[in-house]
Parts: sequence; C-alpha cells; structure tokens
Amino acid sequence: MPIRIIRDDITKVQCDAIVNAANKTLLGGGGVDGAIHKAAGIGLFFDCLKLRGCKVGEAKITPAHKLPCKYVIHTVGPKWKDGNHNEEEQLVSCYTNSLLLAKENNCESVAFPLISTGVYKFPKEQALLIAIKTIKAFLADNDMDVIVVVYDKSDFQIDIDMQDDVEKYINEHYWFSGKIIGSGLGLSDYRDHRMGDTAELPPIHKYSPFDREIDSGKILPKESFPTPWGKPALGYKSRRKKRSYARRLRRKPDSLKRAQRIGSEHSCHINTDTSIEIKQRNQEDLSKWFPSEPLERRKSGIDGCGQIRDISRLTIEEQLKNIDAGFKETLFKKIDERGWTDPQCYKKANVDKKLFSKIRCEENYHPSKTTALAFAVALELNLEDTKKFIATAGYTLTHSSKLDLIVEYYIIKEQFDVDVINMTLFKYDQKLLGY
Ligand code: APR
Repeated sequence: MPIRIIRDDITKVQCDAIVNAANKTLLGGGGVDGAIHKAAGIGLFFDCLKLRGCKVGEAKITPAHKLPCKYVIHTVGPKWKDGNHNEEEQLVSCYTNSLLLAKENNCESVAFPLISTGVYKFPKEQALLIAIKTIKAFLADNDMDVIVVVYDKSDFQIDIDMQDDVEKYINEHYWFSGKIIGSGLGLSDYRDHRMGDTAELPPIHKYSPFDREIDSGKILPKESFPTPWGKPALGYKSRRKKRSYARRLRRKPDSLKRAQRIGSEHSCHINTDTSIEIKQRNQEDLSKWFPSEPLERRKSGIDGCGQIRDISRLTIEEQLKNIDAGFKETLFKKIDERGWTDPQCYKKANVDKKLFSKIRCEENYHPSKTTALAFAVALELNLEDTKKFIATAGYTLTHSSKLDLIVEYYIIKEQFDVDVINMTLFKYDQKLLGY
C-alpha cells in the first residue's frame, strides 16, 4: 500500500528511513525533532553537527543510530506566517527532497511526520493535503512505501465541510445493535413508530426475525404482525418480553407434554415423530406469520444475467461451468475496457506493485475487502457496479459497517480519490483502502 496513514510515535516506526521536522541548525529541539534525537542517542547529534545546518525546504541524511531504521532524513519546514510567504512551495519541497534523498539511498520505505504542523503552526488540514498530494505525485513515477505518521489525532484535520456531510450520512444510515445512531430512535421506539405509523423510515437492518419484512422496505400495519399468542406485536418495550417470546417459541406445546405423559413407553417414537411434527408445524406457522422466499425460489439460483434457474437439476460440473466471472477476471476486463496499464490502475487504487503482481500471478488469489473496494473506487464504478464487482470476491456493502458507509458516501458523491477516502477512514479509525 503506497500511502499509509498510521497513528504512532515515529521513533518506533520500523522502515528504511524516518523524516525529522528539524530546525535550520539540525542540532535538535522540541516536538518530533527532540523525540528523534532522544531516541537516536548522542551519535545523531554529532552526525548533524557535521552537516552544518540545513535551509528551509531542503533535506539532509544521517544514519539512524539507535532508532529502528537505517536513516534519518532531516528537513526544515516553513514557519507559517499568512500563506503569502511561499509557505506551501517550501513545504512541498520538504516532502519532495526527502523522498528523492530516500530514493538515492535505495530506501523502499519512508515515514513522515506532519511537517510544520506543530511549533511552526502550518494549518493542519492544508499541510496534510499538501503532504498527500506531493507524496502521490512522487509515487506516480516511483515505487516506495510511504507512511504518514500522525502522533496526535488532533493534528489530523481534514476537509471540515466534507466531514460534516460524511458524519450526517453515517448517522442517517449506520446501524449498530438495533439503534439508529444519531437520530435518537431506539429499537423499541422504532418498533412503536413502525407499528403505528407507516411514514418512511431509514432502511433498517435486520436485527430480529420480526423484521424480516422490513428488509423489503415495507412498514407493516399492526394487524399483519400477529404473535403466537394472537395479540398484534406492540413493539418490544423491553428485552424481557422478547426473551419470553423466544422461550415460548422453544417451549413444547402442552399437547406434547400430555402425549409424553400418556405414551411414555413410546417416548422414543413420540419424541422423534412429534418433534418432527412440531418442527413442521412451527415452520408452517412461522411461514404463515413471516412469509419468506417461496420454496422454489430458494432452491433456485440466479445466474449472471438474473435468470432464475433451477440449479437442483444441474450437475456440479454444469453448475461450476456457469460460475460467474471471478474477481481477477472482472478486474482485468475492466482495466482493458479503460485502456489502462496495470500501474495506472494499481497506483490509483493505492495498491502496491507487489500486491498487484500477486493478484496477477497467484492462481487462487482472494482479495481483502479493502483491496476489492480500492479497485472499485479506482475504476470509478457507481454504487450498483461496485456491489457487483466486490460480489465477485464474495463481499457486499453493509450499513452496519462504517467503512462501507464511508466508501458508499464517496461513491455516491463520485469522489473517486482513494487517498481522500482513506483520510476519512483514518479519521473514523477504520481500515484503509488498498491492502
Ligand atoms: N512522532 C510523530 N510525530 C510527532 C512526534 C512523534 N514522536 N512528536 C510530535 N509529532 C508531530 C506533531 O504532533 C506535529 O503534528 O510532528 C508534527 C510536527 O510538529 P513539530 O515537531 O513541532 O515540528 P514543526 O512544526 O515542523 O516545528 C519544527 O519545532 O521541534 C522543533 O526543532 C524543531 O524548531 C523545529 C520546530
């Protein structure tokens, strides 16, 4: 994954080189500069002494001494004044010169702090975007793993307007343990609301067998929801009631108890028959209360072009012949359709070269969900096509996952920049796309 964002102390990061946000003397200071010098030991100080300082925007390299990496690249970031003193260009050259120096020293991986966002007061959101943009520009022509190390979450500030929108989208759609986050509606309120009012409600995720119908988006009127004891479900005021209902479902009906008492000598016969009868009756009862898919549809499969096919009559070989195109086949077909080269696609997906060659060469390669989603975004698929694409790897988008919701939000907004999505995922402590 070419660009990774992690929360850590940069002195702990194991990679080929770490970058130090130093001052012009290179002889140490506070912040990350102080932390690096402290962790590296006095040897670093003497090496820096020989470098005789460094200009703003330039970068110099020393061994890493006691740090868990090979090199320390010292760069001096701009002090923020008002944005009209070349601050942005100087910050860009800090990242570019550090990356070039890492490349000259055959580094395969380099870790950056958010340069100038501490003592030098560079606006954090702007500094982060400059960092990501500059690193991406370098990675368009170079292969290197770049890690952006965020020490303090408050340093990590991203586009506020967009974030408010994402927050709203998550609140409206995210389901966690039966509550609608953010709208204050709880499970029981939702049930009452549903029972009494057929007003549109946000799609609800199945959180109990009672809500099988809600998956289809219907809000059922009260009478269509009888419970075994005949009263319309008034919504569950408490778990206790729900538990007792579940117990009732499991409990054997009195008739069975009587039969067992009378026919104890046939108990083995009675138990097995009646339990099968009970299961059948329960199944009939349940299917009466909760109409599920018609049996024939359940037995049938849906083929690639949406035709219902009775797969029970096909041999395994025939069924395997009709298996839909897999992830790899679909991915390469879409890359060819766009006339892209492999690097164009995997760099856009923030997937590293090694992983892509694994996708190409490994017979039974199976992508992680974040890799599949990264390619879906890189290919700029709309939401429907994204769902079909990740389904080739056995995944689906679900509203009970913040990661899925955030990716869904950006796809709907047609924002197909994996790094922008990753910054939001990072902000919500989610896995990043691309690996
Ligand atoms: N690991 C990773 N990041 C860190 C660490 C650490 N151990 N310590 C601080 N940071 C982060 C800060 O949270 C900030 O986001 O590094 C970023 C840069 O902050 P500073 O270290 O203050 O660097 P900068 O703003 O560039 O100012 C440089 O500060 O430390 C002095 O000698 C340095 O004079 C120079 C000036």
